[in-house]
Amino acid sequence: MPDIRVGKFDDIADGDHKIYATNGREVGVFRVGQNLHAWENHCPHAGGPICQGKIFGQVGEVLSPGKESRGLCYTGRKHIVCPWHGFEFDIETGKHPGDAHTRLRGIPVSVKDGDIYLTFNR
Ligand code: FES
Repeated sequence: MPDIRVGKFDDIADGDHKIYATNGREVGVFRVGQNLHAWENHCPHAGGPICQGKIFGQVGEVLSPGKESRGLCYTGRKHIVCPWHGFEFDIETGKHPGDAHTRLRGIPVSVKDGDIYLTFNR
């Protein structure tokens, strides 16, 4: 199947995303710096519209050398939070932070001459 053009790279601001309906699916395209990450708009938990969730910084815990908590912090990574039940996924890897087997389904995405293309293998 040929690549499908869905929009222009410059239409998505850094840290933002757009959802495109194409090839019978909805796909969220997220921009992180100069990179794009595309995920099916289908949460692996129960099918919710994951790409319509809010984006938050990942929260981590600062530990002392003795493994005592020194408080919480932002790690610098971004998570999208499913609007149905709150599962979180890393925007860049699609992985759930607590279960590497629970992850978003990625769609290959590329940019040619400023246009965004999605590649569907089925
Ligand atoms: S459907 Fe996404 S957390 Fe339940």
